[in-house]
Amino acid sequence: MKTLIVYSSLTGNTRKVAEAVQEVFGKEAYIFPVEEKPPADGYDLVAVGFWVDRGTADKKAQEYITGLCNQKVALFATLGAYPDSEHARQSMANAVALIDDSNQFIGSFICQGKIDPKLVEQFKKLPESHPHAMNPERAARHQEAAKHPDENDLANAKRVFAEFRQNLHTGGL
Ligand SMILES: Cc1cc2nc3c(=O)[nH]c(=O)nc-3n(C[C@H](O)[C@H](O)[C@H](O)COP(=O)(O)O)c2cc1C
Repeated sequence: MKTLIVYSSLTGNTRKVAEAVQEVFGKEAYIFPVEEKPPADGYDLVAVGFWVDRGTADKKAQEYITGLCNQKVALFATLGAYPDSEHARQSMANAVALIDDSNQFIGSFICQGKIDPKLVEQFKKLPESHPHAMNPERAARHQEAAKHPDENDLANAKRVFAEFRQNLHTGGL
């Protein structure tokens, strides 16, 4: 199954997930950073990976996703929040909403990714009243995020994309 994998990644978390997805499709995977803006025509599946930026796909991924027409599209992402949180669900929903109706949405995968230490330092400087101010709950989440994506996340990404591949293969999607 000829698969295009396009990822947007600032600090490498989403790239790691992209490389795990690449393993699922083997020689039939074509992987590019989003900056290369690869044409999406001629593939059986287009998988686009993004990092969550203020509750949606980052800008570069947004541009790529909105430009897709007549493709089978799957999305994957990393974010600082917990992957089972409402914020994660909404962030992915916001990205899915960018997909043009001419495409077929196949499914998505999201997991935590460590937050840039520079950003964490900025959070620490915020006043208590700020919605992003540091507190014990936020610090715990950042500490957890710092361990991701881990081997388990990458295995889950592979499992999810292997399912997509299987479903496309058998015509279930
Ligand atoms: C400017 C900026 C904004 C971010 N916004 C969010 C956000 O809204 N929600 C969230 O859960 N994580 C947010 N993050 C955390 C990143 O999505 C997360 O660390 C991601 O794994 C980074 O992926 P990358 O290594 O592929 O760049 C933000 C990070 C940065 C730098």
